Amino acid sequence: MKALIPAAGHGTRFLPASKTIPKEMLPVSARPAIQLIVEEALDAGADEVVIVTSPDKPSIRRHFEADAEWRARCASRPEADAELAHLEEIGRRIRWAVQAEQRGLGHAVLQAADILRGEKEPVLVLLGDALVSGEAPSAAMAAISRATGGASVVGLEEVPAEKVSRYGIVKGERVEMPGVGGEVLKLSDLVEKPRLEEAPSRLAIAGRYLLDPMVFDLLATQRPGYGGEIQLTDAIRRLLAQRPVYGYRYPGRRHDIGNPAGYLETLQAFAASAARP
Ligand code: UTP
Repeated sequence: MKALIPAAGHGTRFLPASKTIPKEMLPVSARPAIQLIVEEALDAGADEVVIVTSPDKPSIRRHFEADAEWRARCASRPEADAELAHLEEIGRRIRWAVQAEQRGLGHAVLQAADILRGEKEPVLVLLGDALVSGEAPSAAMAAISRATGGASVVGLEEVPAEKVSRYGIVKGERVEMPGVGGEVLKLSDLVEKPRLEEAPSRLAIAGRYLLDPMVFDLLATQRPGYGGEIQLTDAIRRLLAQRPVYGYRYPGRRHDIGNPAGYLETLQAFAASAARP
């Protein structure tokens, strides 16, 4: 399985910090958020991770690059050296794509098409500013895809009524899937940012996707949608018309590190889980 992390957004909700520090590089303990996301992808069985970044955010790539000077500096500090060795190991599994113009999440995903279009299996997409505490959803989503003959799966969370108009909201029928920690649905529709009266449920697509590689062809012809941006959910809606798509309401909690309040709440959640014996 291949994974893809879009991390090229402007991050305007985190200005002025995001002027020079990409939100994906914000630390959660000593590791930056994007490193934890790469680790989630590898733990779920990905053998390679493509990160889409922008020319304005060189620190993301630098973080994962092998650095002999740092290794030499830490030679007599085993813990620090072990962290750097681990990072180097991860770095070998990363490939890079560039989104030069920020035209939306779907457009960012499309920038990895040259690398991933020929894949036979669904590609795991993890948003670079979304962390999940508790059970990581990616591994369960990969298991659901295998159990359904390679179907696409989107991660879901329940959102309060007043927030449904901010998300892609799904319609689907619950299906039994033994051995999976959360609820599984077979989707029949997907509505991007519906009004509350028109929302088919309160289940929103949230931060993790496992997508049939056909999505790259769909994105290539995807017209701009909400906000004038190429929306990934619009392409998934077209995918749903041709291929099965499941939803996984994962038991873990999603945290948005893309704004200051969300970031602070993320740190609290991760500190609490680190403090548990
Ligand atoms: P967001 O929806 O939070 O958008 O991105 P944003 O533009 O980064 O942030 P704001 O709204 O200006 O504060 C969700 C994920 O998709 C990536 C982001 O880097 C983030 O990891 N993304 C978004 C891209 O890679 N390219 C884009 O054009 C938009």
